[in-house]
Amino acid sequence: MKIATEEMGRFVQRFVDQLRAAAELTRMRILAACAQGELAVSELAQILGQSQPRVSRHLKILADAGLIASMREGNWTFYRLERNTTRLPAMILDLIDRNDPIIVSDRQRLAAVRERRQAEADAYFSAHAAQWDAIRALHADPGVVERHLLAFVPSGAYGVHLDVGTGTGRILALLAPHVRESIGVDNSRAMLAIARDRAGRSDANIGLRLADMYALPLSDASVDLVTLHLVLHYAEAPEQVVAEAARVLIPGGRLLIVDFAPHDIEELRLRHAHRRLGFSDEQVQTGLTSVQTEMLPGQALTVTIWVADRHEAADMPSDLRRTAAEASI
Ligand SMILES: C[S@@+](CC[C@H](N)C(=O)[O-])C[C@H]1O[C@@H](n2cnc3c(N)ncnc32)[C@H](O)[C@@H]1O
Repeated sequence: MKIATEEMGRFVQRFVDQLRAAAELTRMRILAACAQGELAVSELAQILGQSQPRVSRHLKILADAGLIASMREGNWTFYRLERNTTRLPAMILDLIDRNDPIIVSDRQRLAAVRERRQAEADAYFSAHAAQWDAIRALHADPGVVERHLLAFVPSGAYGVHLDVGTGTGRILALLAPHVRESIGVDNSRAMLAIARDRAGRSDANIGLRLADMYALPLSDASVDLVTLHLVLHYAEAPEQVVAEAARVLIPGGRLLIVDFAPHDIEELRLRHAHRRLGFSDEQVQTGLTSVQTEMLPGQALTVTIWVADRHEAADMPSDLRRTAAEASI
């Protein structure tokens, strides 16, 4: 009984601490911005129109109260809403008027920050479209990775394959002989041009679409297999990309994510537009049933394959989808 009372006391105290931390204009704006995805301090400073040291002080208060989580990656730290906490952040976000002028202008500045980042990435991809396969070979031995990937796609087990961020269409071509239909999605015309050229030279049933990985042009539960091959480390909000990929999977479908394990090669960010320096298992939360994780060490980078299946409706990535949906302030 005493223990229960103590625990209750701790919970109430935590709740009060969180209310105190959130009850300040800038910090409430930070919560609203972080609800839209992970943001670095420099980006939050642009959105809020405040200096980085000032924003950092607010971030520390929010983090100490357990309202936001931080993830350090090389020289950058990203902030997002804490998932394992009270319902307070969700309640606050519910109560904030999305048409409030302060929130509206923060949202506009956040959109501008994202556009700038996307423009940099687009410029990089356009400039490197032709050499992409060669650049890819620098990361890890693609042959080995692809052999392991194939082992998770038994021939004939999956009908429609969707490759998100398909680039030059290499993964589509690899899996095409084992599926009925292949769809590649990418937001770079330059990449798609090369993928189209490759698909045109094969007999496989491959379709390519210019689209954003955050808003796939496919209905819920419409494909059997989704791959995200060396794409997630470019994402502004990886968890939203994963949730969107899981959304289009049918029950029984499979999600295969191939990306780097955490590393500290900052140069990939500076020179190759990587947004994230790899992912830990904990960061790759699909909301599906994790089947297996396989690590393929390379010289400088370890490639990881995360295999997750959607067994039934209850398996939908509810947490992630809720985060993405509720976050639309
Ligand atoms: C490193 S390439 C990987 C290409 C391919 N998956 C492979 O492994 O060969 C990353 C790809 O993600 C695409 N991409 C980046 N941001 C995207 C977005 N928001 N929506 C769709 N594709 C995106 C890029 O255009 C690029 O083709």
